[in-house]
Amino acid sequence: MDNKIENKFSWKIKELKPSATLLINKKVAEMKAAGEEIINLSVGEPDFGTPDFIKDSAIKAINEGFTRYTDSSGIRELREAICKKFFHDNNLVYTPEQVVVSNGAKHSLFNIFLAICDEGDEVIIPRPYWVSYPEMVKITGGKPVLCRFDDKYRFDIEHFKSLVNKNTKAVILNSPSNPSGMVYSEEELKKIGEIVLKNQILCISDEVYEYFIYGGNRHISIASLGEELKNLTIVVNGVSKTFSMTGWRIGYLAAPLPLAKIISDIQSQTTSNPSSVSQKAALAAIFSNPSGIAPIIREFETRRNFIVENLDKSIKFIKPEGAFYLLLKVENLNSLQLSKKLLEEEKIATVPGNDFGIEGFVRISFAVKMETLKEAIARINKLAKKYDEKS
Ligand SMILES: Cc1ncc(COP(=O)(O)O)c(C=O)c1O
Repeated sequence: MDNKIENKFSWKIKELKPSATLLINKKVAEMKAAGEEIINLSVGEPDFGTPDFIKDSAIKAINEGFTRYTDSSGIRELREAICKKFFHDNNLVYTPEQVVVSNGAKHSLFNIFLAICDEGDEVIIPRPYWVSYPEMVKITGGKPVLCRFDDKYRFDIEHFKSLVNKNTKAVILNSPSNPSGMVYSEEELKKIGEIVLKNQILCISDEVYEYFIYGGNRHISIASLGEELKNLTIVVNGVSKTFSMTGWRIGYLAAPLPLAKIISDIQSQTTSNPSSVSQKAALAAIFSNPSGIAPIIREFETRRNFIVENLDKSIKFIKPEGAFYLLLKVENLNSLQLSKKLLEEEKIATVPGNDFGIEGFVRISFAVKMETLKEAIARINKLAKKYDEKS
C-alpha cells in the first residue's frame, strides 16, 4: 500500500512552484520578526492606502446589508462601469455580458487558462514574465512556451513567430510589464497582432499596470487595433494596483461573448462570485475621476527617475517605461548570488531575476517611500562597488 501523501497529488501540480515574490515577503517578515531591519524592495503593491471614498463605499455596502451572493460574473452596475472605462480609456466597446469580475486579475487569468487549455496546448509567454503565468498554465494542463527577448530586452517578435505551431492556443502580453517595466509600442503591437490574426490564436492582454506609465509613453490595448483582433483578445485588468486595493481582490476581464460566458459558468461552479462588498468598493473606484490617482503616478515617476539617475555606473539596468519595478545586474554575480548578497550584506530584499526568466538580474520594486528608496540605492551602490573592485 502506498501511504505517501505526495503520491496522491495530481500530475498537474507535481511541478508547481510557489510564488517567488510571496515567498520572499514571507522570509522578510520572518527576518523582521527576528529583529532585523530589512528594506523590502520585493513588494508588488503600491505603498499608498486605499483612498477614503472607496473605503466609505464599502462601509456603506456593509451597513446597507449588501452582503449576499451576487451575479457570478459580478453586479451589473460594476460591469457597466467597466464597459464605460474600456470605452473611455481604451477605445474599446464591450457589453456588460462580455465582462466577468473575479477575485483579482490573477483569478481572471486562471479562469482564462482553465477555459482554454487542454493537455499539450501551448501558451507562449514572453521573457521576462510575471512569475505566475507559467505556473498557472501548468496547473490547468497547458504547456508554457517561453519566448526570447531581443538585445534591448524587448519581446523578440521574430522568435514569437517561429514558436507558433498547431498546438499554440494563446500568447500572453503584459504591458506595462512586470518585471521589466517595458511598454509595447503601437508598431510592436501591430506586428504581434498580424501573427495572432494569421494563426488565429488567442491573445491574453494583461493591462493591470495601465496607468503606471512614465516619460511620455502611452498605453495601448492590442484589442483596440481592430475588430478582428479584438475578437481574439481577452483583456485583463483590475483595481489592485491602480487604486491601491490589493487586499480587496477585484480584477476583471473582457472577452468575446462565448468565452466570457463560459468563464462566468466556471466561476459560478467554483467561487460563486467575488466579494459583494469589494465589488461596491471597486464600483466607487472605477466611477471616480482617473485624475484622482495622477499625484500617485507622478510620485512613482519621480522615484523611477531618482533610481535611474543615481544607480552606480557599474550597475546595468533596464529603464522602466511603466509599472513600478526595475531589473538591475551587477557584473560577476548571478541572480541568486546578487539577491542573497543584497539581503545578507545590505539587508535589502529583492527578487532574483531567474524567477522571471531573466538570469543575471534582480527585480527591485519602487513602491516604497522616497527616503527608504534613497537609503536602498545607496546600499545597492555600495555592494556593486565592492564587487566591481573585486573583478
Ligand atoms: C502582471 C500582473 N498581472 C496580474 C497581477 C495580479 O493582480 P491582482 O491583485 O488583481 O490579482 C499582478 C500582481 O502582482 C501582476 O504583476
